[in-house]
Amino acid sequence: MPKRIAVVTGASSGIGALLAKELPAHCPVDELWLIARSEQKLNAVGQDLSVPVRVLPLDLTREESLAAFGAQLAAEAPDVRVLINASGFGKFERFDRIGEEDAAGMVDLNCRALTLIMHTALPYCSKGSIIVNIASVAAFQPVPFGAEYAATKAYVLSLSRAVNRELRPRGVRVLAVCPYWTKTAFFDRANKQSVITHFDCMYDPAFIVKKTFRAMKKKRDYVVPGFVAKATHALTKLLPHSLVMKVFIAQQKLKDK
Ligand SMILES: NC(=O)c1ccc[n+]([C@@H]2O[C@H](COP(=O)([O-])OP(=O)(O)OC[C@H]3O[C@@H](n4cnc5c(N)ncnc54)[C@H](OP(=O)(O)O)[C@@H]3O)[C@@H](O)[C@H]2O)c1
Repeated sequence: MPKRIAVVTGASSGIGALLAKELPAHCPVDELWLIARSEQKLNAVGQDLSVPVRVLPLDLTREESLAAFGAQLAAEAPDVRVLINASGFGKFERFDRIGEEDAAGMVDLNCRALTLIMHTALPYCSKGSIIVNIASVAAFQPVPFGAEYAATKAYVLSLSRAVNRELRPRGVRVLAVCPYWTKTAFFDRANKQSVITHFDCMYDPAFIVKKTFRAMKKKRDYVVPGFVAKATHALTKLLPHSLVMKVFIAQQKLKDK
């Protein structure tokens, strides 16, 4: 019998770290693989877990990191029961002011790495396995001054739902989680040059995690946790996106001219 594992990227902090900590209580696995850049933080997350942990300190925007992940899977051929893609970051700035490194970095991490991690892990998934991709409510609308971040999350949502449908005959599911603003270190990285300053609601990551496990059990293909998030999602369906963008710019008191 192959070893049953769960893989969590972005496991060093925020939503990914909490998902990793709570995962053994929801999904029986023999080992938990934790991925992010900070080895020290991954070790801290892994410390109190009830299952054996493998820490993989990898920068997923680097080609060799993706190859290293693939090599570990190939060496052991485990049964990947759960894959959670929570690595990601956002910069909120006018598009022509975002530095090249961040502009490419968001696409590299939020889209390219997520896609390749899924692609690499899928051959090791079996009937009943699940892939959880952390998207965002930003996936449902164009977001001025967060244009690229929202576009990367629209990619994650679309990819997840389509692959979920494709994989139905194999019995492998994909769930996209679409959180609203959530209180994590996300803002430490975003805020260095962020022009977004108004947060009408800030969710607790524990709430997002609770709703994620519930959606996994309910076999949903995407979940929008929380009333404010759901209301925002509904408005993006009902209203013209030109109006949705105008309201967002006004809320953030951004210069529109
Ligand atoms: N917080 C929000 O308001 C919010 C709302 C909607 C969606 N989201 C999404 O939720 C997900 C989790 O974010 P969070 O809010 O929990 O923020 P967070 O606390 O900053 O976590 C981000 C995680 O990504 C990892 N990461 C960053 N760059 C990486 C790289 N190059 N290679 C590998 N891992 C990397 C970070 O670890 P290292 O720094 O150690 O690498 C960290 O573990 C992200 O996809 C984010 O876009 C967040």
